[in-house]
Amino acid sequence: MAAPRVVNARQTRSKGEPATRTRILKDSTIESVAEFINNGSAKNIIVMSGAGISTAAGIKDFRSPGTGLYDDLERFNLPYPEAVFDISFFKDNPDPFYRLAKELLPGRYRPTFTHYLLPLLAKKNLLLRSYTQNIDMLERLTGLDEELLVEAHGSFATSECIQCHELCDNSHVRKHILKGEIPHCKECKGLVKPTITFFGEQLPDRFGTLAQVDFKKCDLLIVLGTSLQVEPFNRLITRVPASCPRLLINREKAGEDMHLGFDFDDKWKYPVLRDALFLGNCDEGVRQLAKLCGWEGELQAMFEAGNIEMALAEELEALTLAKEAEEEQKEIEERAKAEKENKDKDEEEKPHVKEDPENILKDTHENHKVPKNLDEESKSTSNNTAADTVDEVDAITDRLQATEISSSKKDSASSKDKVKDDKSS
Ligand code: OAD
Repeated sequence: MAAPRVVNARQTRSKGEPATRTRILKDSTIESVAEFINNGSAKNIIVMSGAGISTAAGIKDFRSPGTGLYDDLERFNLPYPEAVFDISFFKDNPDPFYRLAKELLPGRYRPTFTHYLLPLLAKKNLLLRSYTQNIDMLERLTGLDEELLVEAHGSFATSECIQCHELCDNSHVRKHILKGEIPHCKECKGLVKPTITFFGEQLPDRFGTLAQVDFKKCDLLIVLGTSLQVEPFNRLITRVPASCPRLLINREKAGEDMHLGFDFDDKWKYPVLRDALFLGNCDEGVRQLAKLCGWEGELQAMFEAGNIEMALAEELEALTLAKEAEEEQKEIEERAKAEKENKDKDEEEKPHVKEDPENILKDTHENHKVPKNLDEESKSTSNNTAADTVDEVDAITDRLQATEISSSKKDSASSKDKVKDDKSS
C-alpha cells in the first residue's frame, strides 16, 4: 500500500489497478476514521453489530472456537450446531431451542461499554441507524431510541405461534421457558416461539424496508463484533456508497471474501480506498475511537450511569419476583389449608356406627361448622408483606427516576404500578 496521503486522488498506477484511485481515508487505521469524523465528514453513521459486542457482558458469541455457543451444544445432540436455530429442525424438535432459550433469556445481562456508543452517537445526531444481529436486546437497555434500532434477527421482545402467527402473551411464554416447558398457542395449539429469526425464516420487514433507504445515505459504516458469515446481514456492508468509509472493530478480520467486501490490505485494488481495521476487543476499539474524537469522558459517564440504573432495575425486578413467589406460596398454603379443613369437616360429619341414630343426626348438625373466612385472614397477612414490598419498590423507583436513561425508567414505573395494582386487587 502506498504511503498515507490526505489528498483525495491517488494517481499512481500499478499492474491491474484502475487508472484513477480515490483515497477516502488517510490510511486503514482507526485514527483515520476519527479524523474523518472530526472534520465533520460523517453525519449519517450506520453501526452494524454482532455477538462480539456482547461477549464482555458474559454472553457467548456463536463461532469463536472453544468459547462460542456452537462449540457448546453437544449436550443437545444436534445434527449440526445451527440446527438449534433452524425452523425446520425446530418444528420437529423444539426441545433444544427451549433449553437454550432458558440460558439466553434477556434480563440477566447489562450493556457493555461498546453498546453505549449508540446512544452517544444518537445524542450527537450522528447515528442514522444501528443494525444488530443480536437477540439479547442490550441495545434497548442503553436507552437508545427504538426508532434508531433494527434488530435484524428479531428478539425475545415478542412471541408468536409458528402456525397461525398470532402474537402470544410474552410473559406467559417467558414463564414457560423458565420452567423448562414448551409453550403452545391458546388458539390453535401450534408451537409458540420468541420472534427470533431462525434459519429458513424471513427477516423482519423493518430490516428490508429501512436497509433499502438507509445504506444509500450512509457516510460512515462502523462494523462491530461480527464474523459477517450470515446472509443477508453480511451483505449490507456492500450496500453503502462507494465513497463511504468502513471501519471494522473485531478480534479477527471478516467480510473480505465477498464481492465489494472489506479490503484492508488493498488486495482487490478497488478504485476507492476506504476500509479501516481495528483488530482487538470492541470495548478497546470503541474507547480508542471515542478518545480520538474527544468523547471518552462522555461515553464513560453514560456507561456508568447506565450501570447504576441497571443495578437499581435489577433490584426492583428481584423484589417484584420475590413478591410474586411469596403470593404464589401463600395461595398454595391457603389451598392446602382449605382442603384440610374440608377433609376434617367431612371426617367429623361421618356417622358413628355405634351411637344412637338420633344422636348421630343431631351431632352432625351441631358439628357442621361455618367455614372460616379465609379471605379475611389471608388479606391481613398479605397486606403487610405487599405494603412492605411496595415501600421498597417505591424507594427504588424514586432512585431510578433520579437517573437519566429512559427505557428502564419506563419498565420500573410499570413494575411499580404493577405492584400497586396487585396490592389494590
Ligand atoms: P459470530 O460468533 O459468528 O462472530 C462473532 C465475532 O466477534 C467473531 O469474529 C469474534 O472473533 C468476534 N468477537 C468476539 N468477542 C469479541 C470482542 N469482545 N471484541 C471484538 N470481537 C469479538 O457471531 P455473529 O457474527 O453475530 O444468527 O453471528 C451472526 C449470526 O449467526 C447470529 O445472529 C446468529 C448466528 O447463527 C441466527 O441465529 C439467525
